Amino acid sequence: MTTERILVVDDEPNMAWLFSHAIGDDYEIVAAPSGERALELLRSVHIDLMVLDLRLPGADGIDTLKLAREHGFRGPVIVMTAFGEVKTAVAAMRLGAHDYVTKPFNVDELRLTIESSLRSVRGAGGGHDAPGALEEPVRLHEMITVSAEMRAVFEMVERVAASDASVLVQGESGTGKELVARAIHHMSPRNDKPFVPVNCAALPESLLESELFGYDEGAFSGARKCKPGRFEIASGGTIFLDEVGDLPLAMQPKILRTAEEKVIERLGGTQRIAVDVRIVAASNRDLRREVMEERFRQDLYFRLAVITIPIPPLRNRKEDILVLADYFLREFCADLGRPCPSLSDDTARALLAHDWPGNVRELKNAMQHLALMCDSSIVEPRCLPGWIHPIGYSDPDNYVDDYLQLYQVSLKESKRRAFAATEKRRIAEALHVFNGNRTRAAQSLGISRRSLQLKIKDYGL
Ligand SMILES: Nc1ncnc2c1ncn2[C@@H]1O[C@H](COP(=O)(O)OP(=O)(O)OP(=O)(O)O)[C@@H](O)[C@H]1O
Ligand SMILES: [Mg+2]
Repeated sequence: MTTERILVVDDEPNMAWLFSHAIGDDYEIVAAPSGERALELLRSVHIDLMVLDLRLPGADGIDTLKLAREHGFRGPVIVMTAFGEVKTAVAAMRLGAHDYVTKPFNVDELRLTIESSLRSVRGAGGGHDAPGALEEPVRLHEMITVSAEMRAVFEMVERVAASDASVLVQGESGTGKELVARAIHHMSPRNDKPFVPVNCAALPESLLESELFGYDEGAFSGARKCKPGRFEIASGGTIFLDEVGDLPLAMQPKILRTAEEKVIERLGGTQRIAVDVRIVAASNRDLRREVMEERFRQDLYFRLAVITIPIPPLRNRKEDILVLADYFLREFCADLGRPCPSLSDDTARALLAHDWPGNVRELKNAMQHLALMCDSSIVEPRCLPGWIHPIGYSDPDNYVDDYLQLYQVSLKESKRRAFAATEKRRIAEALHVFNGNRTRAAQSLGISRRSLQLKIKDYGL
């Protein structure tokens, strides 16, 4: 492997020396004392990663970043900022910088940041050709991203969609596994047939079996009519085995057989029924590990994981945080029929600093909270839900003020808004599902056609 080349842009001459000293054994370091010189170098030599001081004479760091992107530099950029100047770092993140370090920084921390940034573009097909983050977010079905890691996921989805290969989607809770599964189905030739999700963790073993395989009349007491199982319902389409790691061991051989022979037998049934299903499975546990610890059958694992798509946690793709935040906030505000506020730099910084154990779902919830609770046109950190502790938020002297600012509205008003948002969503969904047929939509919602009509008008649907 060739040594990767890092461009250090800083008017402080010691900085280039520091970099050479600290990481010069692993990377080739090139230095530029100004933004202008950096742009010249980018034109003439291949650069894998740029470390950019934001305070530069002449063109400052932000200008340099913009120009570098405009000139086609696609590699990761790490910005350096002085303590107390994090605002500009946030502006840089919005322009697609990968990460930032605060000066004075710790060399080990810097090395880790560089390594992880380079790793992410290498994983995405490598080199400076991996598209940078300045472009519009990339979309796939219902997902958006600007990160190289997720773009690699999108590419895998597109690639596997056409085939019938089993896919295992692996990732922490809330990373978007179900959306990926839906995207695979949506982009596959099976998309005019059903996508049938089954949550393997939600049902007790006995019910799971009849859910999956169905039963014939008289299969057990209470089975008065026959009922097709999810495999049958999914025939021609895709079955989504969610939380597959929770599949009881006793059930696993049956699933394996179905996957291999493409036939099922209903409980209490006598005939074998052919089912043409594609299997997509998801797990938030490491299934290989489950196999090693004998909680999951190896043969089934190999059958399901013909292709494995790993989804990185949100904290490993920081570039996505603000993009997704804006996207969700806009969506929720549109739902509520209110203008969308913008995030202040401090708020953006708090979002970037949070480590998102609940991943994209947590971010989405936080934005819903903001849309409902924050009345101002600029979102300050104190408006963030309490679980995302912005720096300084826990200062007890500020707490009462923060609290009063955050909940500018009464409990009653909060409830009213949450209620209205849910109602609007349910109605919009019902109208969508029944193709605008108001009678059927009203029926499914358990309200009269007339009151549905009034609500449609109220919510401007
Ligand atoms: N890239 C993305 N773009 C837009 N929305 C996303 C993206 N990733 C996830 N989401 C949203 O985040 C939420 C969580 O996604 P999803 O349910 O697919 O995650 P999951 O990995 O299946 O979670 P769990 O393990 O808890 O079941 C959903 O509301 C989904 O719409
Ligand atoms: Mg899920």
